[in-house]
Parts: sequence; C-alpha cells; structure tokens
Amino acid sequence: MAIKLNLFVASLILLTYYITEIYSVVKFTNIQCQSLDRDFALFDSWFLKSVNRSYKYVSVKVKLLKIPVSKVKVRFGLYKRVNGYMPFLYNMSFDACRFLTSPNPNPVALYFYNFFKDYSNINHSCPFDHDIILDKMPYHSINNKVTKILPFPEGKYMIEMHWIAYDIDRAITKFYWTLT
Ligand SMILES: *[C@@H]1O[C@H](CO)[C@@H](O)[C@H](O)[C@H]1NC(C)=O
Ligand SMILES: *[C@@H]1O[C@H](CO)[C@@H](O)[C@H](O)[C@H]1NC(C)=O
Repeated sequence: MAIKLNLFVASLILLTYYITEIYSVVKFTNIQCQSLDRDFALFDSWFLKSVNRSYKYVSVKVKLLKIPVSKVKVRFGLYKRVNGYMPFLYNMSFDACRFLTSPNPNPVALYFYNFFKDYSNINHSCPFDHDIILDKMPYHSINNKVTKILPFPEGKYMIEMHWIAYDIDRAITKFYWTLT
C-alpha cells in the first residue's frame, strides 16, 4: 500500500513536471537599455520583433567606444513582479572575462549564459574589441531551456544586468518577460 501510494505520488510529480514543461511559455514583453557612460558604450538598437505567432525574437546592439575592453563584470538580478518587481532567487555578479575559461564556472551564470550564447558574439573571453550583438534570439530557444533545469512558477519577471567595465557601471539592460 505504502509503495503504491509512493508510486502514485511519484507519477503525479512527474506528470505535473511534464505538464509544466510542455506548456510553459516565455514571452518577452519589454526591453530597456541605458548607457550610464556615453563615452564608453552606446546602444545602437534594442527591440522585440514578432514575425508570426511562432517566431518572435529579441535583438540588441551595443557600440563599445573604448576598445579593447579587458576587464568586465556582470551583475545580474532576477526580479519577480509581486507589488512592483521584487528580488527573486538571484542577485550575483561574475567576472565575464574569466567566466568562459574557468574550469568550474558559476553554475547560475552558466545557466543564463546558455540562453543567449548561440545568438550573441560575446561567446569568447576578453578582450572585447568589437560591438556587442545579441542577434534575433528567438523566444522558443528559451522556452525549451527555462523549465528544464529549475521549474519556475508562472508570473512576470525581469532580468536586470549591469555591465561593469574596469569596476565602473557602464550600462544597464532590463529584460521583462512572462512565464505562462
Ligand atoms: C514564421 O516565420 C518563420 C520565419 O519567416 C517561418 O520559417 C515559419 O514557417 C513561420 N511560421 C508560421 C506558422 O507561419
Ligand atoms: C544585489 O547585491 C548588491 C551587492 O552585491 C546590492 O548592492 C544590491 O542592492 C542587491 N540588489 C538586490 C535587488 O537585492
């Protein structure tokens, strides 16, 4: 009896997980970019584009004005909307220069990096001597990844990233998205 009940609970959990995974959909709702040091970095463009029902993407292009840049940190905060956006689970920073060559990179940073690495040219370690581009990252590429590792509750979220070069805050990007 106990075993049967355990099996039942186990399959229920599996089923719930399965359903969550199948039906979770990530949608970007807004993106904000702000240069804090206009002599250092300028945003050329940032936009969400909806091609059709199944193909929507996000693009960002940043001009770096003082290349090469060889010391970069990223501060990364996840927020969930409750009454306003409240910090949720992650608030951390990591060294963007060492991250990719580190033998054991920060797992959370790696998790989020995996979302956009295929669509970005920051897929190498420092120095950065070119414009930074996030090119047509499709929402569905994220859908497949977001719930696999840690199932998130549904809701409205925001990811805030501070781009810090030589220990000075240079730019902020905010991605607003929903999980339904
Ligand atoms: C949506 O647009 C993409 C790119 O143009 C295309 O490959 C895909 O077939 C379209 N999907 C639908 C459902 O029209
Ligand atoms: C995140 O941590 C930094 C210090 O590492 C702190 O200044 C900041 O206020 C924190 N942000 C949130 C939303 O907790």
